[in-house]
Amino acid sequence: MHTFQPLDYEMLEGGPLKFDDNSWMLITAADGDKANAMTASWGGVGRIWDKLCVFIFVRESRYTKELLDASDEFSINFMDDKKHHGLKNYMGKVSGRNEDKIAGARLNVGYDQGIPYLDEAMTVILARVAFKQPFEEQSFISQEIIDKYYSNGDYHTIYIAEIEKIMAR
Ligand SMILES: Cc1cc2nc3c(=O)[nH]c(=O)nc-3n(C[C@H](O)[C@H](O)[C@H](O)COP(=O)(O)O)c2cc1C
Repeated sequence: MHTFQPLDYEMLEGGPLKFDDNSWMLITAADGDKANAMTASWGGVGRIWDKLCVFIFVRESRYTKELLDASDEFSINFMDDKKHHGLKNYMGKVSGRNEDKIAGARLNVGYDQGIPYLDEAMTVILARVAFKQPFEEQSFISQEIIDKYYSNGDYHTIYIAEIEKIMAR
């Protein structure tokens, strides 16, 4: 296993925690000894309720959602794209319901404060869910967004999670 250093968020702002079109991360969650990770690129870090929180969006169909809802904790794992480029599609196309992706990708799961993370990540956010709510059709003002992203009814749930720790290799 690698050694990670705890980091203050202020040290990272404008740094590697970018949630933009060129960034991707693996959301890792576990229920007992069942761990899984999926690619995600939408989300953010910000302040609400006087707490530093991370926001993620996970569709109903994802196996990761089952684990997230069972444990209400997860990690965001920023990977080195040069080293792990192939994982973006593998972890983002195959479902952990059908195969053990962690083993398939030769990733190792570590636990910090009981929260699973990936030992191969460069930067990790450990988080505990404070609020979650499925998106509902009637809440959308923009019909264009429904047509573009939810024509199959597979809505996202928003998770707002309190950041427990940020760690960097
Ligand atoms: C670049 C990229 C970004 C993605 N971002 C998200 C996301 O933010 N939320 C989501 O629900 N799915 C997202 N996905 C799709 C999931 O990663 C994909 O459906 C995955 O197979 C789910 O795995 P699971 O069933 O093991 O949880 C993304 C996929 C890719 C390739």
